[in-house]
Amino acid sequence: MSGDRKKLYIKTYGCQMNVYDSERMVDVMAHEGYEVTETPDDADLVVLNTCHIREKAAEKVYSDIGRLRLLTEKRVGKGGKPSLLAVGGCVAQAEGAEIQRRAPMVDMVFGPQSYHRLPEMTRKADKIRQQGGRARIVDTDLSVSEKFAVLSEKAVRSRKTAFLTIQEGCDKFCTYCVVPYTRGGEFSRPFEDVMTDADKLNAAGVREVTLLGQNVNAYHGRSDDGREWSLARLIRHLAAETDFKRIRYTTSHPQDMTSELIAVHGDVAACMPYLHLPVQSGSDRIVKAMNRHHTISSYLKTIDDIRTVRPDIALSGDFIVGFPGESDEDFEQTMALVRRVNYAQAYSFMYSERPGTPAAGWENQVESHVKAARLAELQAELDRGQRAFNDAAVGRVMTVLLERQGREAGQLVGRSPYMQAVHVDVGDPESARQYFGQLVEVKILSAGPRSLKGELILA
Ligand code: SAH
Ligand code: SF4
Ligand code: F3S
Repeated sequence: MSGDRKKLYIKTYGCQMNVYDSERMVDVMAHEGYEVTETPDDADLVVLNTCHIREKAAEKVYSDIGRLRLLTEKRVGKGGKPSLLAVGGCVAQAEGAEIQRRAPMVDMVFGPQSYHRLPEMTRKADKIRQQGGRARIVDTDLSVSEKFAVLSEKAVRSRKTAFLTIQEGCDKFCTYCVVPYTRGGEFSRPFEDVMTDADKLNAAGVREVTLLGQNVNAYHGRSDDGREWSLARLIRHLAAETDFKRIRYTTSHPQDMTSELIAVHGDVAACMPYLHLPVQSGSDRIVKAMNRHHTISSYLKTIDDIRTVRPDIALSGDFIVGFPGESDEDFEQTMALVRRVNYAQAYSFMYSERPGTPAAGWENQVESHVKAARLAELQAELDRGQRAFNDAAVGRVMTVLLERQGREAGQLVGRSPYMQAVHVDVGDPESARQYFGQLVEVKILSAGPRSLKGELILA
């Protein structure tokens, strides 16, 4: 039968919100008879789920479209049918119809809040194609609530870990960032809707959930009785009333790290000891210019408070180097902060001027060779910290959720509580089947820059 099914190829750029969105596109298109294919070569529908956060990410889409055009020409040359091409996500939201002006082969353009309408768009584009034309569909509506209702109904799952989007968008308007424009304003899903999705994940065997939001700790969903739910209350409820063994959440803003949420890290065992808490810079002057609504000392105080209730918490962060006006001294303060916090891992980027954001127009831009040198220095320090964090795991016993096949037969890969990838040889493929999806005790034998290796401890 599978020969009758149409093929869908999705390429995902950007953050976990996009990963979640791509999974949901697979769900909705499964109802239309599409199955996922690993290459664009034989796809009937190609979706590029794009990211607008930095110039490099946005430009990558156009080079990928160029490659797809060559592929299509080759296919048509051999008598094949061209695939439908859709550009979704944050570049689509930001550029809209401009995408089709620059790349006329694109049939559909849709933003992060419109992709639940992908089935209708695809049917329409297909019909126009059959009549010999080319669709020019653009859907960049930013209202969120209808989307989740459609997606929730069409969910299909088989994994042990899952993302669950509970909050979307952002009202914080950091002066460098496109997200408030590409994802729209802050929106928290109602409590009951979140619980419906949580129950479905449990029923499908999911053991670990990651609650997602662009500013997930600003979550303030309402329940039918009119009460408001903070993220802290939601996590407590999920830990008490569902089958999730592990709960994570990302991404958090330092300003919304309330004492109520910090307390959860101290007394909810299912809440994993890992927190992604971006600070962007170690200089008060720069975080102010970024409009970040926090100071370096308030950030450090938050971290101290979390470490008081959960001493082993692993911290992660995001950094931007070369923000307009960043001096050598400002940058040194970032380096000092990094050394002080000791991140388990972190992401760092050169500042990228994004159209439509306030900082893009400023005159005090930092030269690119300076940005590159600062990035290299920062990344070396972050790598050193990550390496030290991984090395410290050797000899310890950790609980690992074995969630995917390793490269070799009989090997499974999972995550430690601290988000480290752990490779475990369980023996043979039969044992691999037996242990897949289990939470097991693993003794860590060795550490690499990005992952650990360990052996099962059999009870
Ligand atoms: N909502 C999240 C992050 C969203 S974007 C938060 O506030 O933490 C992910 C990361 O991309 C940001 O934390 C920032 O470090 C980086 N980023 C965003 N805009 C950028 C830009 N214009 N140039 C370089 N890095 C950027
Ligand atoms: Fe962007 Fe700032 Fe909002 Fe994060 S908090 S999404 S960096 S505007
Ligand atoms: Fe990129 Fe959009 Fe996420 S711009 S980082 S995909 S919210």
